[in-house]
Amino acid sequence: MKRPFAYVAGTGHSVPKRAVSNDDIAAMGLDTNDEWIFERTGIRQRYICGEGESLASLSAEASRQAMARAGVQPGEIDTIILGTASPDHLLPATAVEVQTLLGCGRAAAFDLAAACSGFLYGMIVGESLIANGSAETVLVIGAEKLSAIVDWTDRNTCILFADGAGAAVLRRQRTGGQKGILSSYMRSDGALAELLWRPAGGGAEPFSPEVHDARRQYVRMAGREVFKHAVRSMAEATDRALDAAKLTAADIDLLIPHQANVRIIEATAKHAGISMDKVFVNVDRFGNTSAASIPIALNDAMQQGRIKEGMHVMFVAFGAGFTWGSLVVRF
Ligand code: ACO
Repeated sequence: MKRPFAYVAGTGHSVPKRAVSNDDIAAMGLDTNDEWIFERTGIRQRYICGEGESLASLSAEASRQAMARAGVQPGEIDTIILGTASPDHLLPATAVEVQTLLGCGRAAAFDLAAACSGFLYGMIVGESLIANGSAETVLVIGAEKLSAIVDWTDRNTCILFADGAGAAVLRRQRTGGQKGILSSYMRSDGALAELLWRPAGGGAEPFSPEVHDARRQYVRMAGREVFKHAVRSMAEATDRALDAAKLTAADIDLLIPHQANVRIIEATAKHAGISMDKVFVNVDRFGNTSAASIPIALNDAMQQGRIKEGMHVMFVAFGAGFTWGSLVVRF
């Protein structure tokens, strides 16, 4: 047996109604401005959830689009994998609520916690389920409602993170079929977990009135350190995915990196030897949506006609944990 075992049959994405510009954030009373944010990150605006918008509702909408484009009925989905760091509830998984919203009655559904690498990890797990015969059709979602877990008084973090969801339907490739996942790479290293983490919110730090500090519920980040590790790890991941696919940078038609920061994206592309005209960037419009950023960018690229049949697309991610990984897909 050899790859491709699974191909991307359809994609979709959904973001909240409300767009928040850099000026809107400055107007909240933070000591920041559009020029600083755009120069350091490439972000102009992001979408933030309002009333009635949840991780589950965004995920379901992105999934409906992906399923419609794939021509897949709810009853055909065998597995739903939802990569997220900001579930609606810690128990149960948000994936089961999405399952109910979609009417995917016969699916197994679970959340996957790999931060910004969650969608790529989900694609690799989904492909494995297809390869070992456990599933024919897998719905992979990356979604975040980071606005609920960032400190809106911390200018180091709140300017970066945003809400949204993206989804892809993976289907079994018949023997001899050419399109699909050609290679993958995934790694993690917990030694530096506290460079990007959320101290409370899990069982390790249950609520206690004596030590209660609401800010421990929020994401904390050592930005410069994270930046260095992101560049190093994403460079490694692009090398490994290309090697495993037996391709070179010249074979890659489009690079879709995690949309954290345009400077990280530029450094990753430079290392890989891929010119920026072959790199998909939409962090300016969506901000850093963590696990959602790659599937949102994938669907955006599809809708813009940037991905055509036969093209090789490389995906690369890096996130809290740290986690990182890459995929090469022939469309
Ligand atoms: N507006 C104005 N000034 C600011 C802001 C802001 N929003 N944020 C920080 N500053 C100030 C700092 O306080 C600091 O001031 P000081 O010199 O007086 O202390 C100064 O700007 C420089 O701060 P640095 O943190 O050194 O700025 P840097 O150039 O590193 O940019 C940034 C900060 C954008 C966060 C950068 O480090 C970065 O992009 N890091 C990676 C973050 C990231 O992408 N994380 C997610 C990746 S993984 C994932 O997606 C989960």
